[in-house]
Amino acid sequence: MDEEQKITESSNAEAWKDKSYDAWVLKYGPAPAVAKRIRQNPARTLGVLREVLGDPQGRKMANLMGSHGMKAVAVACLGAQATVFDFSEGNRRYALELAEAAGVSLRYVLADVVRLPQKELTGDYDVVLAEMGILHYFSDLSPFMATVRELLSPGGHFILRDFHPVTTKLISSKGSTAKVRKHKVDGDYFDTSLTQTPVSFAKYLQDDTAKPVLLRKWTLGEVVTAVAQAGLHVEMLLEEPNLSGEAFDKGIPKTFTLVARKL
Ligand SMILES: C[S@@+](CC[C@H](N)C(=O)[O-])C[C@H]1O[C@@H](n2cnc3c(N)ncnc32)[C@H](O)[C@@H]1O
Repeated sequence: MDEEQKITESSNAEAWKDKSYDAWVLKYGPAPAVAKRIRQNPARTLGVLREVLGDPQGRKMANLMGSHGMKAVAVACLGAQATVFDFSEGNRRYALELAEAAGVSLRYVLADVVRLPQKELTGDYDVVLAEMGILHYFSDLSPFMATVRELLSPGGHFILRDFHPVTTKLISSKGSTAKVRKHKVDGDYFDTSLTQTPVSFAKYLQDDTAKPVLLRKWTLGEVVTAVAQAGLHVEMLLEEPNLSGEAFDKGIPKTFTLVARKL
C-alpha cells in the first residue's frame, strides 16, 4: 500500500470516528424510531437495491462501509445474515442500537476494509454490497477490490452502487428547483488529485467540529477496470438518471450500479 493511500485512510478514519452518531440522531432520529420504520417495510429502505439484491433470505451478506447500518438492518429483517465492515465507532454505535431495536442480529466489524484481519476474509459471502460514497475513499482501488474478492464465495456477487463520475467530476450544477437549475461542464473528468471535502454528515451537526475527508474521484473506466483486474466477472453496469425526481437533471447520469460475480 502506498504512502498516499495511508495518509488518505488515516485522515478519513479520524473524520468518521465518532461524531457521526450525533449526526444520525439529528438527521434520522433516535435508533428505536428508525428501526420501527425499517422493520415495517425493509424493502423500502433498500430502494433500488431490492432488484439487484434478490431475496436476502438465508444469504450471508457483507456490507462494506455500511455506515449507520440501515441497509444491513433491512437485509437482516428480510432474513439475511448481515455483517457490516466499517471503521467508524459512531456508526457502529448507531447501527447496533438500530439492530437491537429491530430485533435482528447484526455483526459490525470495526476495521479498515483494506486491512481486514485474515480471519475475516472467509471467502463465503454470497453477496458483498457497497453503496453510495464508497470508491472516492481510496487513492488506489486494487486493495479494496482484493477485499471484495477475498470475502466472496465462488459464484458470489459484488454489488457496487455509487455516484456517477459524470456528475461528480465533470458537471457542476446550481439552482434548487428544476425551473432554475443550470449546469456547466467545467470539471476535469481525468483529474486524479485528492481533494479535501467536508465529511458527508457535517451538514447535520449543530457545530463545526467535524473534520474534513480526502477524496479521489474515479472515472467509470477506472472503476470497471479495477473490478475486472480483481478477477471479478462484470455482469451488469447500469447508469441511472436522478431517481428521486424525474424531471430534475433529466438526461444526466447520477448514479451507477455494477454487478460482478466471483468465478
Ligand atoms: C458515505 S458512507 C457510505 C454510505 C453508506 N453506505 C450509507 O448508506 O450511508 C462512507 C462510509 O465509509 C466508511 N469508510 C471510509 N473509508 C473506510 C475504510 N478505509 N475502511 C472502513 N470504512 C471506511 C465511513 O466510516 C463511512 O461509514
